[in-house]
Amino acid sequence: MAGGSLDPQGPAAESMADLWWLMLALGAAVFVVFAVFLALGLFRPRPGETGPGSEQPHRFGAWMIGAGVAVPLAIITVVFAATVHAMRGVATTAPTGALVVDVVGHQWWWEVRYPEEGIVTANELHVPVGRDVALRLTSRDVIHSLWVPELGGKLDLLPDGVNTLVIKADAPGEFVNRCAEFCGLQHTLMSMTVVVEPPQQFDSWVAARRSPAATPDAGAARRGFDVFLGAGRCAQCHTVRGTAATGTTGPDLSHIASRPTLGAGPFPNNEANRRAWVSDPHTLKRGVAMPAAELSREDVEAVLSYLGSLR
Ligand code: CUA
Repeated sequence: MAGGSLDPQGPAAESMADLWWLMLALGAAVFVVFAVFLALGLFRPRPGETGPGSEQPHRFGAWMIGAGVAVPLAIITVVFAATVHAMRGVATTAPTGALVVDVVGHQWWWEVRYPEEGIVTANELHVPVGRDVALRLTSRDVIHSLWVPELGGKLDLLPDGVNTLVIKADAPGEFVNRCAEFCGLQHTLMSMTVVVEPPQQFDSWVAARRSPAATPDAGAARRGFDVFLGAGRCAQCHTVRGTAATGTTGPDLSHIASRPTLGAGPFPNNEANRRAWVSDPHTLKRGVAMPAAELSREDVEAVLSYLGSLR
């Protein structure tokens, strides 16, 4: 089975999948027993056909207590105990040695901050294999919910508090986190790529993201840089590390060109989509906070050239 919560790739997701299978097995067993008795009841001879059934009321009472009370109570007790066991196995605070990542929900994108590493990105979460990762979840506006079914449970991002979700992956892989709480017009276009990679690869990703963006000296990229900081007013909302652009309303764009997707959607991060987004993001994702660019075509192309240089 490929993907989803029944294809667990880490201990937390495994314990939840085990619980799901236990409940399926119990439910299936109850269904089979019920179906057998239903069939027996339907096809047994009528009382009149074999004589009067004087024992019926007494046996009926025993059945009511056994099948109606004792068996359900036993099943619920087993499921309750298994649920508590699974819940106790899932950490709600950062274990020692965990990689701490702050994830902030926005309408409609994911801000991802690595406080220890000093890096900020958006709509992509990189984590190393085999290490606990404590995701500290919060929201800038409404309630969102983070859910990577293969790695763990679902947890809300609240505007007035921090929830901690601990995940851990057994093997490298790439997954998708889709917002799991209705949060407005573009709730369905609020996804994040989750990359689980070997520790060395993770370290080199961190090192690359930590380096400040190079400021272009000349050419179209330089003109784009000037527009970005000046007439385009991009810097009011976006940060590019190592420049005067320090806005925090929109995603950090320091390494935008090397991200897999654009706009927290299914849009591949290619030049055509970047052009559409910069010209008027509402053509791709109606309702986002970013306005259409009030720039000449040349200035838009220059900005695209600059953004393309932010690798
Ligand atoms: Cu964010 Cu739904």
